[in-house]
Amino acid sequence: MSHAEDHEGTRRDFLYYATGGAGVIATGAAVWPLVHQMNPSADVQALSSIRVDVSAIQPGTQITVKWLGKPVFIRRRTEEDIAAANDVDVSTLPDPIARNNNIDGDVPATDANRALDESGEWLVQMGVCTHLGCVPLNDAGEFGGWFCPCHGSHYDTSGRIRKGPAPENLPVPLAEFVDESTIKLG
Ligand code: FES
Repeated sequence: MSHAEDHEGTRRDFLYYATGGAGVIATGAAVWPLVHQMNPSADVQALSSIRVDVSAIQPGTQITVKWLGKPVFIRRRTEEDIAAANDVDVSTLPDPIARNNNIDGDVPATDANRALDESGEWLVQMGVCTHLGCVPLNDAGEFGGWFCPCHGSHYDTSGRIRKGPAPENLPVPLAEFVDESTIKLG
């Protein structure tokens, strides 16, 4: 073997290994997103709990936030809203159960069992009609709460179904105040 042939052979080996190395890197880059998606911990945990600054919400208004892909209504109610919500015989409601995920078991759908705080000023609920899942409109309907235009469901100022095809009250998700202006969902 001449010196020149020896040199050429060495260079081919070098090119071969360099190509092989690039292939490994490319494979690694393609596999990483799949592995990343299959590991649920970080992404899902970040989404399963969110904090919402509610300091700018005025009485008589609400904000809608997206949580776990669904709308959540956070409403700051007026004295009139709360009074109307309490002026109801719970046993006459279409759905007499509170549907509050912060309370274990089926408790009566009193306003106190649905409101977030003791004063009743804050009401947090899923913005998803319990009939077929439309998003109800606020400050609408015959009971001063929410109205679902899809098939005509009326919810009162406590988010309880009062009239129309929806079978259940709007669910109250896991929620709590973590400081005076922040509500944590989940
Ligand atoms: S989806 Fe709301 S009334 Fe049908």
